[in-house]
Amino acid sequence: MTRHFLDLSDAGGDAVAAMLADALDRKGARTGWPKGKVDADAPLGGRILGMIFEKASTRTRVSFDVAMRQLGGSAIVMDAGTTQLGRGETIADTARVLSRMVDAIMIRTGDHAKIEELAHYATVPVINGLTDASHPCQIMADLLTLIERGHALPGLEVAWLGDGNNVLHSIIEAAGLMKFNVRIAVPQGYEPDPRWAEAANASGARVTLTRDAAEAASGANVVVTDTWVSMGQDHADDKLAAMAPYQVDPALMARAAAGATFLHCLPAHRGEEVTDAVIDGPQSAVWDEAENRIHAQKSVLRWCFGQL
Ligand code: CP
Ligand code: NVA
Repeated sequence: MTRHFLDLSDAGGDAVAAMLADALDRKGARTGWPKGKVDADAPLGGRILGMIFEKASTRTRVSFDVAMRQLGGSAIVMDAGTTQLGRGETIADTARVLSRMVDAIMIRTGDHAKIEELAHYATVPVINGLTDASHPCQIMADLLTLIERGHALPGLEVAWLGDGNNVLHSIIEAAGLMKFNVRIAVPQGYEPDPRWAEAANASGARVTLTRDAAEAASGANVVVTDTWVSMGQDHADDKLAAMAPYQVDPALMARAAAGATFLHCLPAHRGEEVTDAVIDGPQSAVWDEAENRIHAQKSVLRWCFGQL
């Protein structure tokens, strides 16, 4: 069966743990190497990843390209607007054609149904590089970063501040798989889709929702936020006003547990969801988190090819 990585649950908790262990090992094995040097075992030698972007990206496009090079393979980046997909060629036909030309497909798009349709028609693995619903590759990098910082995932208290968006959905999904807890502080009307929390709570995580940022942050081991306006959304003044009490600033971080880690998937809107003092401060792991996109995705790719 073709292994798609549309969400973390496509792999499951054991495979996520195996990917994280593999990512740590492989990262350690190439310490100090030039970024383009191929890993000693070149496990994806001869493989090509095709990447389709229907939305902007810096980290996802560069980290997947570098990941493929380090694994001994290569990547082709397509901006959807310059492909026939952008002129109305169907997802199904695009899937059929790309499956004859590349060994795996990564897509960043809006509607999650589109990636499901692509996976349905593709005969090669399809990887979610962000949809409006979820961003599982980001959360693989986040989990790797937390482990590196000495956090044990089971029982971890993670506080999410701000908008109930795609990144939060994947954090909630990860909580269910890896058995940690998420305290969500979001304004009225900007809650995450409740189905993610229902599934996580049913599998032993504790996902709670409050309107009070300080309450969510109190004693948390991890504080996470993201942009208040995701790609494809309007810069509505009423939304920005509603989000203002959820800014992560030093006073909020001071409420978290000693040794708490700050995460942000980036790009950040400094002065909105996070202040400079926090993102540039000693508790921030955001640059490791960004680099770890490479290492985590190498293991996701290996899992897709049945190597993990
Ligand atoms: N975090 C993330 O996915 O960044 P890009 O939008 O730059 O890919
Ligand atoms: N929630 C953000 C994440 C960007 C990486 C967005 O969808 O724009």
